[in-house]
Amino acid sequence: MCGIIGYIGDKDALPILLKGLRRLEYRGYDSAGVAVIESGKITRVRSVGRIDKLTKELKNNELHGHIGIAHTRWATHGGVTQENAHPHVALDGKLALVHNGIIENYRELKNQLGDIKFESQTDSEILVHLIASFYNGDLKQAVTNALRHVRGTYGLAVVYADNQDELIVARLGSPLVVGLGEGEYYVASDATPILPYTKKVIFLEDGEIGRITKDGLETTNLSDELVTKCVEEIEWTDEEAEKQGFDHFMLKEIFDQPQVFQDAIRGRYNLTEGTAYLGGLNMTDEEIHSIDRIVLIACGTASYAAMIGKYAFERLANISTEVDVASEFRYRNPIINEKTLVFAISQSGETADTLAAVREAKRRGAFVRGIVNVVGSTIARETDGGTYMHAGPELSVASTKAYTNMVAILLLYAIEFGRTRLITLATGQRLLNSLREIPKKMEIILQQADKIKVIAEKYMYFKNALFLGRGINFPVVLEGSQKLKEITYIHSEAYPAGEMKHGANALLAPDFPVIGIMTKDQLYDKMRSNIEEVKARKSPIMLLATQGDEQAKELTDDVIYVPDTMELLEPLLNTIPLQLFSYYIAVLLGRDVDRPRNLAKSVTVE
Ligand code: F6R
Repeated sequence: MCGIIGYIGDKDALPILLKGLRRLEYRGYDSAGVAVIESGKITRVRSVGRIDKLTKELKNNELHGHIGIAHTRWATHGGVTQENAHPHVALDGKLALVHNGIIENYRELKNQLGDIKFESQTDSEILVHLIASFYNGDLKQAVTNALRHVRGTYGLAVVYADNQDELIVARLGSPLVVGLGEGEYYVASDATPILPYTKKVIFLEDGEIGRITKDGLETTNLSDELVTKCVEEIEWTDEEAEKQGFDHFMLKEIFDQPQVFQDAIRGRYNLTEGTAYLGGLNMTDEEIHSIDRIVLIACGTASYAAMIGKYAFERLANISTEVDVASEFRYRNPIINEKTLVFAISQSGETADTLAAVREAKRRGAFVRGIVNVVGSTIARETDGGTYMHAGPELSVASTKAYTNMVAILLLYAIEFGRTRLITLATGQRLLNSLREIPKKMEIILQQADKIKVIAEKYMYFKNALFLGRGINFPVVLEGSQKLKEITYIHSEAYPAGEMKHGANALLAPDFPVIGIMTKDQLYDKMRSNIEEVKARKSPIMLLATQGDEQAKELTDDVIYVPDTMELLEPLLNTIPLQLFSYYIAVLLGRDVDRPRNLAKSVTVE
């Protein structure tokens, strides 16, 4: 939540900052602001709303500094107002700061600072005044001294008007990446704004403070000790972070799925041996045999992917598996021992609750593996191994392709564990062959986008919806319902269809549509009976059915056909029509598809 960016070099900072903010807008879009130093003076422009609004305000404001910082905000402390927008300033506007994170002891610090006039209601503003109180010519030292008094999390960038050749950055609990150009440096909350300029980056670790000048980066910790940093290379391309002709990132990311699915599985299985090999697991066959429980920790969409993992681990490897929503995990007494394998699943790798759960699981002695998309993210760094999901940059707030790749990686793990413990070579080979056919089958579904749009037109005016599935398709309907509510704002629920008789049947009525998954698997007949019951109660029905299932048409006119596949792989296909269904309804209702209200992509606060 909140995105920060900074630049120092020979180019005009403003266009770089604004372009960067656009790439970071998924992290928050309540307000935005920039501060640029020109001729020993900081000019700050802030505005409530999107980056476009800020850009308009800057049209008549010629700023030509070569160093600057900028911020896009997702409000936590303090309302959505111009005063609360970053950058915050002190020392008569000579010191400017942008901050991502939460300062927990801001009230205490405010009292300690005494008679200072605060301009905003944010927790962040305390930082700039605290730094000012320590400033006596050495900005980095002032930042270090200030941060020693701070409790909370921060990714921050600070500039001082009299020194156009110095940008100070620091991190604790909120990500910060430094991009290395030729005689120029970029700083950002993630790598996407840096991609157009350089692939060489340095990830700051918690408790590190960097002084960036045109000549280099000097990093120290809170004890003033020098820290040596490694330069890493980002694999993502700049094009991947663009819409590439699609109307929205979400649509592009839905259509990316056949390709990124291949990226997720490539080189990670061996057909002859009928098994998968995920290098980052770092476990011997004996260790895999000794596992007696798997715990999957995740939030939101990632937790629905985890539920599919549960089915796969239990079925293929006979390992009892639990899914824990990360925000609950550490407030229980999770039973973890040396025979428990924990996976933390996260697209961003920065979700605060998932990260806290990782730390709790490690504290209890578990080995924790990550399944993460963003390379170098905190969860990727703090886990004891794991696998990148290779979905490429996912910039729409609603997760689509990362979800599919989470499922792909979990299935590969289940096949690997299954082959080590239970399933035959033939079963392993059958699963892998079916996995290899998935991209082609995804394409067949994507070709039906126009048909799904026509169905969406029929369902767009309903105020509620009920998603029904059974077995492996229950997590799929949870995810379908999640997509509908988050991007269309239509209330929806998801139920295991067999549960309907125990309460939810009371909802069924002509104004309460049901979206059901009735693909050909072991629960087909049972699901069909459930849908018959829905039909008898006159709820409108949209169904996903397996290609060739003519009987589905007897239940409703609104059938979307999906290709046949092995039951465990069905979620990889069945999720896609539901993504498109929600997407088209959101577009038809005029919603801000990529940036739904009240949400941000990377939830770095608890
Ligand atoms: C929904 C969505 C969220 C995320 C959740 C976890 O479309 O995107 O529910 O899945 O916030 O985020 P990550 O995977 O980054 O940990």
